Amino acid sequence: MAVTDQPRSYAIRTYGCQMNEHDSERIAGLLEADGLVLADSDESADVVVFNTCCIRENADNKFYGHLGRFKTLKEERPDMEIIVSGCLAQKDRDQIAARAGHVDVVVGTHNVHRAVELLHESRRNGPITEIWDEALDDEATFPSALAVRREVDWSAWVTIQVGCDNTCAYCIVPAVRGREISRPFGELLTEVERLSADGVREITLLGQNVNSYGRDLTSARRSLEPSSEDAAIVGAQWLDDRRARPLFADLLAAVSNIDGIDRVRFTSPHPKDLREDTIAAMASNPSVCPHLHFPLQSGSDRVLALMHRGYTAERYLEKLAAARAGIEDLAVTTDIIVGYPGETEEDFERTLEVTAAAEYDSAYTFIFSPREGTEAADMVDQFCDPAAVADRFDRLRVVVERSALAKHMARIGRTETIIVEGPSKRDPEVLSGRTSQNKLVHFRSDRPLRSGTLATALITDASPHFLRGELVEVLSVSRHRTRFAVTAG
Ligand code: 5AD
Ligand code: SF4
Repeated sequence: MAVTDQPRSYAIRTYGCQMNEHDSERIAGLLEADGLVLADSDESADVVVFNTCCIRENADNKFYGHLGRFKTLKEERPDMEIIVSGCLAQKDRDQIAARAGHVDVVVGTHNVHRAVELLHESRRNGPITEIWDEALDDEATFPSALAVRREVDWSAWVTIQVGCDNTCAYCIVPAVRGREISRPFGELLTEVERLSADGVREITLLGQNVNSYGRDLTSARRSLEPSSEDAAIVGAQWLDDRRARPLFADLLAAVSNIDGIDRVRFTSPHPKDLREDTIAAMASNPSVCPHLHFPLQSGSDRVLALMHRGYTAERYLEKLAAARAGIEDLAVTTDIIVGYPGETEEDFERTLEVTAAAEYDSAYTFIFSPREGTEAADMVDQFCDPAAVADRFDRLRVVVERSALAKHMARIGRTETIIVEGPSKRDPEVLSGRTSQNKLVHFRSDRPLRSGTLATALITDASPHFLRGELVEVLSVSRHRTRFAVTAG
């Protein structure tokens, strides 16, 4: 490798969910701790990281397409190093090195913390693939526990749980992310306190199934004599309790009471595990945002049973009604899969009905994608006709957009509190902010407002995907001190 005075630069392409985005921040933190600086563009970077997702086939295809393009770039600049990390790396393992000889490092979901060490190793010994079958140490388990280069300095993700113990028949996540492991309660509070001291005012708690947070902490501790270490893991207040475990509701209440944290978000709760105490914690702690992402997946009981979701449409709607009754002005979003193997027109009509009844603020809708190794991928003889699925997908969008627009129109004339995110993507003269319900508000401002600023805006117009407004008042400017905090845990 050529030695120059310039520090080597890096770029990261992230595919998929917020977990992956958080893992990318962590890889960025490791690379910066190794002396690298952020590149101006992916193409000019010395080290390029592809942090992959495998949840649906189009994420796979997109990644392999991008990776293919970097082959030519690497031929022109043999100094360039390529790392492939994330869920697809975990799933495809040796296939990546076999398909793409220009990759230097393949690293899985359980050993992300090894990315830079592996890069050094590949410089000595050539391309390397290292995949662990499960998390082997604490450092490896939680992305928040390592050096992190946060993309936004006033908002941070906090992983409270990794893995998933559910068995949704379509889902590859349990296979690539492993069993559910909760991060110790005490550690989470310390992390959020530190983030607040750094100027973070919004946190998002991340987990595949946040409502089951703490379940594994209990079973690990139940038979032990309580010690101070146990107190840190489950939280001292629950040790002598009959329950002897923290619940997600306890965590929500505790983090929302930390000074300086104005907004607490979380994703995602599984409908079967949404408890009354979580609703109560959302309702009684004003900094917990009134937004529930509540993945429906299907409105047909038959399909829900095939998917092993653990609830019926009726039960789902009951829980939703309880959440809406308990939490004032709650925004609700969801995930829905269209064209699950065996889905009939009647099943789909149930999905349309439940979607209409749920009156979502927005929905992520997906066409079923068979993932090798999942139960649903084996139901080949029941795969739906792609033309019928495309038609259903469009019909579903109409129903979702109808309720989204109605929800948004109803906000016209109200004054909403927003946190400024920066110039809007389409028009740099327009700023964008986000309400506690997670809605984007575009507005003009005659003065620049720093990202992270708390302000109010009068809502003047609405579309299915965003609101428009006018700035009313700046409530408080952002407290963060550094542009990009590099913190070590
Ligand atoms: N096909 C289509 N959508 C899927 N999802 C997960 N697995 C699949 C699949 N095989 C969707 C679910 C989940 C969201 C994150 O991705 O709706 O909630
Ligand atoms: Fe996948 Fe179901 Fe777990 Fe969500 S709850 S990650 S859909 S298995």
